Amino acid sequence: MKTITTLVVAAAALGFSSLASAQFAKPEDAVKYRKNALFVMQQHYARVGAMASGRAPFDAKVAADNAAIAEAMPRLPWAAFGEGTDKGDTKARPEIWMEQAKFKAAAEKMQGEMSKLAAATKTGNLDSVKAAFQATAASCKACHDDFRQ
Ligand code: HEC
Repeated sequence: MKTITTLVVAAAALGFSSLASAQFAKPEDAVKYRKNALFVMQQHYARVGAMASGRAPFDAKVAADNAAIAEAMPRLPWAAFGEGTDKGDTKARPEIWMEQAKFKAAAEKMQGEMSKLAAATKTGNLDSVKAAFQATAASCKACHDDFRQ
């Protein structure tokens, strides 16, 4: 897991996310890419969530490993919301392209909450993890309410 995180972080640091929009051969590829990035993020985020809600036993190391991936993944999807990617097999709402500053702010808000969640898992304090998980979930919902069908 550490390797995956390191790769994702390295890719983000190299500016991969800003290059990404130019790299997609077809709009369908961009749609698939962003959905897959969100899907992978959600898988790791949900593993932390299972511990935060008591559905899984709390293991600080497992929580921290998963939160690190969940923190790195959201650097990827936003560059794949380029022009012409509002069609096809997507739940993206047209508001994304009409209110780009608001969409970007929602993405940044979530990234910030996700970083706090990752930091909380490193303390090994379950109450901090619970609080940070809830704040992150609220930031997911806020964007989905406005920008996802
Ligand atoms: C800045 C806006 C924004 C934020 C913040 C956001 N999402 Fe989303 N999410 C979207 C949009 C838009 C889609 C639809 C993408 C598409 O269908 O092209 C989506 C789709 C998804 C999907 C479906 C991917 C698939 O397989 O089709 C999952 C899972 C998901 N988001 C999880 C999350 C979680 C978990 C969070 C919070 C940790 C989150 N999202 C935060 C905008 C956001």
